[in-house]
Amino acid sequence: MLRAMYPGSFDPITNGHLDIIGRASTMFDQLIVAILRNPNKSPLFTVEERREMLCQSVAEWPNVQVEVFHGLLVNFAREKECRIVVRGLRAISDYEYETQIALINRKLAPEIETIFLTTSAQFSYLNSTVVKEIAQFGGCVRELVPPIVEKKLKEKFKKERG
Ligand code: PNS
Repeated sequence: MLRAMYPGSFDPITNGHLDIIGRASTMFDQLIVAILRNPNKSPLFTVEERREMLCQSVAEWPNVQVEVFHGLLVNFAREKECRIVVRGLRAISDYEYETQIALINRKLAPEIETIFLTTSAQFSYLNSTVVKEIAQFGGCVRELVPPIVEKKLKEKFKKERG
């Protein structure tokens, strides 16, 4: 049984994340999408909202499961018996940050391997931050995020505008 973990903030999930999840789900028996509960960040969506959006968006892949973690990723990967951590690489600019995390994680847990999947070209410009900015100022995010996220973003910013 080869089980992998795909960690992130997912605030919110984008079609770029889904591209990685869909492809990784074909490579492993089980894929755990792990949402970080990070007390140092103030996310737009609560962990519960992010979990709900993820669960709906990954429903088509029966071997993908969504979990929330806090603390060190490697501790959670060990707890869930995941030997592989998956991360997406969009551009060369991601490389430095991602290799730093991968090397720190290997120092902490040498038995866990990080593998990188190259994001599909059509999502190479996409991240959660730009999605939030577009939605905040009334732009259309339909092609960038799953339908549930588009809906939740509209609700969130409608409330903020009052
Ligand atoms: O989507 P993100 O915010 O780029 O994901 C970053 C994440 C969650 C993978 C990373 O911040 C993480 O694993 N945090 C948990 C704390 C940890 O393990 N730190 C040590 C490695 S830097």
